[in-house]
Amino acid sequence: MVSRFWISCASSLIFFLAVSSAPTNEHSVQGQLFDVRNYGAGVDGRRNNAFAFAKAWKAACQWSGGRSTVYVPPGRFYLHQVTFSGPCKGPVTFLIKGTLLAPRSPNAFKRDAWIIFQYVDYLTVTGGGLLDGQGSYSWTLNDCHKSPRCRPLAMSIGFAFVKHSKINGLHSINSKMGHFNFFSVEDFNVTDVTVTAPGNSPNTDGIKIGKSKDMHITNVTIGTGDDCIAILDGTSNLVISDVRCGPGHGISVGSLGKYSGEKNVEGLTVRNSVFNGTTIGLRIKTWAKSISTITVSNFLYENIRMINVGNPIVIDQQYCPHGLCDSPGKYASHVQIKDVKYHKIWGTSTSREALKMQCSRTFPCQGIVLSDINLSYNGRDGLVTALCENVRGSVFGKNVPDNCRML
Ligand SMILES: *[C@@H]1O[C@H](CO)[C@@H](O)[C@H](O)[C@H]1NC(C)=O
Ligand SMILES: *[C@@H]1O[C@H](CO)[C@@H](O)[C@H](O)[C@H]1NC(C)=O
Ligand SMILES: *[C@@H]1O[C@H](CO)[C@@H](O)[C@H](O)[C@H]1NC(C)=O
Ligand SMILES: *[C@@H]1O[C@H](CO)[C@@H](O)[C@H](O)[C@H]1NC(C)=O
Repeated sequence: MVSRFWISCASSLIFFLAVSSAPTNEHSVQGQLFDVRNYGAGVDGRRNNAFAFAKAWKAACQWSGGRSTVYVPPGRFYLHQVTFSGPCKGPVTFLIKGTLLAPRSPNAFKRDAWIIFQYVDYLTVTGGGLLDGQGSYSWTLNDCHKSPRCRPLAMSIGFAFVKHSKINGLHSINSKMGHFNFFSVEDFNVTDVTVTAPGNSPNTDGIKIGKSKDMHITNVTIGTGDDCIAILDGTSNLVISDVRCGPGHGISVGSLGKYSGEKNVEGLTVRNSVFNGTTIGLRIKTWAKSISTITVSNFLYENIRMINVGNPIVIDQQYCPHGLCDSPGKYASHVQIKDVKYHKIWGTSTSREALKMQCSRTFPCQGIVLSDINLSYNGRDGLVTALCENVRGSVFGKNVPDNCRML
């Protein structure tokens, strides 16, 4: 009896704390509060909180009195794979103040992401909290950079079939294999996000986007061992601004063209961003040996600073890793790249070839525009240079390097 009395006291105290400590700043609780602790979540760092989180989500999602907020208070919450599904009866805020800790073992995942939101509209994920993928325990098991038939590990957080939604103020570290994944999302904004993983961690992409439209990514800081942002087929109307990228492999479109059924990539803007110490800056990559005949079009890259970037500007239509092409130059990509503008791109390159565009022999790039490019190289083996193959387009203003020969 005594112990039951104390448990009941303790749980009312927890409930009281949950309500009274609810923050009141911009990341604050809106509408009806669903505190994960009231559904059995705890911060002992050992118990699996996935079930408690799922119950809190379900209650919030079913709330029909207006906005609801799932509240994760400060503290370290250990969590197995969890899926938050809609549709919900009203807009839901997922407010993360604390730290979510992934299982160390890569075998604990049945799906492609640790935390999944799917079939939800009007979702807000916010709070300034931390997602810790604990990837360092599995990076050594990852051989995907060497083998085409590797076993993929889980990404940290995935959004699929989510519309009219946003992420604001979140920190993600050390994913197993990629941090944020967006698949088939629409009208989705990402702001004030930080992604961190060591520069030598394998496949730890910051943000990966496929089959999505009308997205804005603004004010994000990404340093990882792979692409800061990777844009895959079927993406349209994506605006990226105020990104600090590095270390990592830059902002990359592709690889495209390998599979049948791929969709066009249309309408990408990247502006007001800095790449610092990345292997590549701005890249479009298509497979040399390609099946699909898609189009990549209407891109604008402008006002971008490069600091010690390996190859600041790259179009690579001869991508063929793992020895999958019988011999170099044997295949020519079927992906058509057109109307891509580079305006005001400046800074330092760590290789001579600061600008490297190797377009397809059979589908030369069209409408490539270069203006106010100023990239310098300080190495001993010569002056900065451009390599341009099968490129149609035009050059305006003063450009360094200035030797990109267009068709
Ligand atoms: C995303 O941002 C754009 C531009 O600021 C805005 O028009 C749009 O309504 C925003 N969408 C959401 C879901 O916040
Ligand atoms: C950018 O995001 C950071 C958090 O990563 C935040 O502290 C800062 O205030 C944001 N800046 C702007 C201009 O919103
Ligand atoms: C670029 O990165 C280096 C090394 O991490 C750092 O010292 C430097 O301050 C950064 N520069 C800028 C402009 O962010
Ligand atoms: C290019 O940048 C360098 C500094 O990195 C500057 O000295 C030079 O004037 C710039 N050239 C043009 C054409 O803007």
